[in-house]
Amino acid sequence: MEIRVGIVGCGVVGTGTARMLIENRNLIRKKTGIDFRLVKVADVDWSRKREFHVPEDLRTTDYREVLEESDIVVELVGGTDFAKSLILEAVERGRHVVTANKHLLAVSGEEIFLRAKEKGVRIGFEASVGGGIPVIKALREGLVGNRIKAIYGILNGTTNYILTEMFEKGVSFEEALEEARRKGYAEADPALDVDGWDAAHKITILSSLAFGRYFPFEEVYVEGIRNVSGLDVELGKELGYTLKLLAIAKKVDSEVEIRVHPTFLHSEEALAKVSGVYNAVMIEGDFVGRTMFYGQGAGSHPTASAVVSDIVDIGVSVYRGVSVEITPVDWEKSDLSIRKNFYSRYYLRFSVPDRPGVLASISRVLADFNISIAAVLQKEMVCEIAGVKNGPIVPLVILTHKAYEKDIQKALGEIENLPVVVDKPVVIRVEEAS
Ligand code: HSE
Repeated sequence: MEIRVGIVGCGVVGTGTARMLIENRNLIRKKTGIDFRLVKVADVDWSRKREFHVPEDLRTTDYREVLEESDIVVELVGGTDFAKSLILEAVERGRHVVTANKHLLAVSGEEIFLRAKEKGVRIGFEASVGGGIPVIKALREGLVGNRIKAIYGILNGTTNYILTEMFEKGVSFEEALEEARRKGYAEADPALDVDGWDAAHKITILSSLAFGRYFPFEEVYVEGIRNVSGLDVELGKELGYTLKLLAIAKKVDSEVEIRVHPTFLHSEEALAKVSGVYNAVMIEGDFVGRTMFYGQGAGSHPTASAVVSDIVDIGVSVYRGVSVEITPVDWEKSDLSIRKNFYSRYYLRFSVPDRPGVLASISRVLADFNISIAAVLQKEMVCEIAGVKNGPIVPLVILTHKAYEKDIQKALGEIENLPVVVDKPVVIRVEEAS
């Protein structure tokens, strides 16, 4: 049996996918008994330098040729406009679709999955989360018997690479970002990585699979790493913590917390040790307990590996007559809502003069809001803050026990107005994730 595969978009991942389908065609045929034949690759610009030479006879600049000639259409264009119309057009024509487009699935996934279901075609999206890690397959199949309680993920390779370089080598944010771009990890618009959007797209997709319904993307809490300072990375290290951009989806009673933000993890935790471009996801189910998935979360070849796994999965199941699949939509009818009042531990850093009563005045406000202090660290280093007339200013770090976000924000509102606090306090949440 032969299955015809066409790719639209021959960038970093498209090129890797074409290469894998061509170089490993025989291997896949031997394993599955199906010949997955790459029939067409569409791109608007064939003059670009690529890591693999796509044979001339497969190339086109017209995506409609891919739609015409393929059983499975692989969308690797990215973005949300053309990619969406391409996928919907493919679905209308009865084509199965494989996509790595996390942004599109996070904002329009519900519409796409429902339409595909009506038309009886499959949407493969393993490559949309965690690059080469088969985490979608794990949630859909391996853990299918479980109620999912929590997901903690390092889901963006670029930011993890940047934070690791800053932590281990002390390189600047800009230098590390440039290197991540050069290696092909970063999005075309790196703000999607740095400001947390890419991780937020991915945790939205995982949440829909875990909890059986789509949550409005606008309601996901997103904070990136653009304002992370080397000082907090260093002070956190002294307290035994490593800073990560963590994506969290957690069921709390009848609500779900979905959030992405810089997070301190105890340095001994497994997720804290995930470095460089690697991604990791911890999934907790009611029967299985905690499981961890780890691998390269970005880059041409790992992502191509996930794309090809979808192609083969669709080919094997559909062409052997299996039509049942678990989609991320509409299996859960409950009214789970998104919870905004997080309950977490907090790292708070204040810039204050080093004199009697300063700590007491801050801790009094925390006590007023029922926030309990777990640890305090003050450094005898002088912060350079321009225009300060109160003498030397030092960093004062307070680690809290678990507290409600609303109480923390209210307390900080008051503390900020104390005359001894000379700069905006830094707030970083602290989690126990693995
Ligand atoms: N820009 C993404 C990352 C690529 O850095 O993880 C993979 O989705």
